[in-house]
Amino acid sequence: MAEKKILDVCCGGRMFRFDKSHPLCHFMDMRSLPKWSISSRPDFHIDPDEIWDFRDIKADDKSYKIVVMDPPHLQKLWDNSWMAKKYGRLPKTWKEDLQKWFTECMRVLDDYGILIFKRNEHEIPLAKLMKLFPQKPMIWHRTGKNNKTIWLIYLKPPT
Ligand SMILES: C[S@@+](CC[C@H](N)C(=O)[O-])C[C@H]1O[C@@H](n2cnc3c(N)ncnc32)[C@H](O)[C@@H]1O
Repeated sequence: MAEKKILDVCCGGRMFRFDKSHPLCHFMDMRSLPKWSISSRPDFHIDPDEIWDFRDIKADDKSYKIVVMDPPHLQKLWDNSWMAKKYGRLPKTWKEDLQKWFTECMRVLDDYGILIFKRNEHEIPLAKLMKLFPQKPMIWHRTGKNNKTIWLIYLKPPT
């Protein structure tokens, strides 16, 4: 079992973190990015504990109590744009990828663990997204500009 009980699956630059090096949090992302990669934001960098892909998380079953997920929200971005560098970009395979991600998160969550999923509806409507997953969230809440940011909370049923 992991010592760190919270997995941040797409940690990016840890911008929404209060404590960017919380001792219980395990930070993963599929890439790292050095400072000065974005000239207008020279301090921005990505430095995960693990370079892991959320379609194949290299952790044992039931390792974490909380899993946090904030994947890229947009497909329509230039590779070299600052937004693509900062937030990543959704690939064409996003539906299959997010289905694999959901299965992986439920696998690495302990019984009754919590999955916190942040989405933005700018390109993909929530209803379309929710059809991809075998279970419904316990709680959801809209916020942000035009109410397009949605926080979804799922419970891992005991297995
Ligand atoms: C919207 S950003 C996350 C921002 C982060 N929550 C923060 O507080 O700064 C999305 C991140 O997901 C990462 N990502 C995209 N596909 C991934 C995958 N298959 N596995 C792991 N990370 C992935 C990107 O590299 C990017 O850093």
